[in-house]
Amino acid sequence: MNEPLAKRVLSGVQPTGDLHLGNYFGAISQHIALQDEFPGEAYYFIADYHALTTVRDADALRSAVFEVAVTYLALGLDPDKALLFRQSDVPEVTELAWMLACGTGMGLLERATSYKDKVAKGLKPNVGLFTYPILMAADILAYQSSLVPVGKDQVQHVEMAQDMATHFEQTFPSGEDGPVLVRPEYRLSSTPKVPGLDGDKMSKSYGNTIPIFTSGKKLKKLVARVVTTAAELGSPLPTDNDNVLGLLALFCDAAELEAIKSYYRAGKRDGEPFGYGHAKQLLAAKIDAHFAEARERREALLADPQQVEDVLARSAVKARARAQATLQLCRRATGLR
Ligand code: ADP
Ligand code: TRP
Repeated sequence: MNEPLAKRVLSGVQPTGDLHLGNYFGAISQHIALQDEFPGEAYYFIADYHALTTVRDADALRSAVFEVAVTYLALGLDPDKALLFRQSDVPEVTELAWMLACGTGMGLLERATSYKDKVAKGLKPNVGLFTYPILMAADILAYQSSLVPVGKDQVQHVEMAQDMATHFEQTFPSGEDGPVLVRPEYRLSSTPKVPGLDGDKMSKSYGNTIPIFTSGKKLKKLVARVVTTAAELGSPLPTDNDNVLGLLALFCDAAELEAIKSYYRAGKRDGEPFGYGHAKQLLAAKIDAHFAEARERREALLADPQQVEDVLARSAVKARARAQATLQLCRRATGLR
């Protein structure tokens, strides 16, 4: 008999581009918080196999993977509580992906909205992009993950993983070994969408991001680009749908935010004129202070890349053992062995 199934949280991050405030508040901070809810059972990986659907430069891929690892560690991922590994260090997921592919109808993949959106935008798809949700399902199911924190755009992919798990269990009923593939649940981040510089969703594809580790002058310059209405200095400013306030809300408690809104409504602070420039200064200072310690940790990690490699390697050993155990059951269930 198998040991009882542990509750396990898992998520993957694509190694593409500098991670930004949207990624932090929408995903990374939640991943890191979950390491305390699932000590020893929080699995996070850098989806380098998935990145191969688009990245065509080996050095760029390697450095993007390293940057994601450094970012998570600098922001507080604790390798004693959570695993952080490269997807490709567990090649068993590609074997499981094949088994799942053989039980998945073309129609299911053809309904994937993220695939359809990309094709509609003119992207010429490769087969890897089409079968992306199968690899993602294999990521989830290989570790018998129970909970998958994701953004809205990935929910359909987790639902496909649920379908694939159910289909596999129906096709190859588990014997006394217990369930082979566990139906996962997803959890949406409680942070609503983080606005970018232009007020649209912050996204690297829109070029409107504030990277997490930007600081000092560069940060001030970036924050100066946040789009606002035109208003004369000292006149009242609208508080509804304001992009600066939208970003400040991520860093301020309710009382602080209320105070800033009162400056907006009055167009004054302590009797002095208050305008967007002042609000932006407050925002830049907040971002700078919020990530100050993480920036220091990041510098230390960049100076000691071996330490980062060690975390990835140690995590991969544990993750791989878990995936190998699942794959052994899958092989037996399917008749491969
Ligand atoms: P991008 O849109 O920059 O390509 P990704 O799609 O790679 O970002 O997002 C990775 C994770 O970060 C997902 O879980 C996604 O939901 C979250 N995320 C990205 N941008 C935002 C945002 N502006 N607000 C909230 N969450 C976001
Ligand atoms: N597709 C996810 C994204 O683009 C990354 C990912 C790959 C993932 N495999 C996963 C997320 C498994 C959760 C679980 O954000």
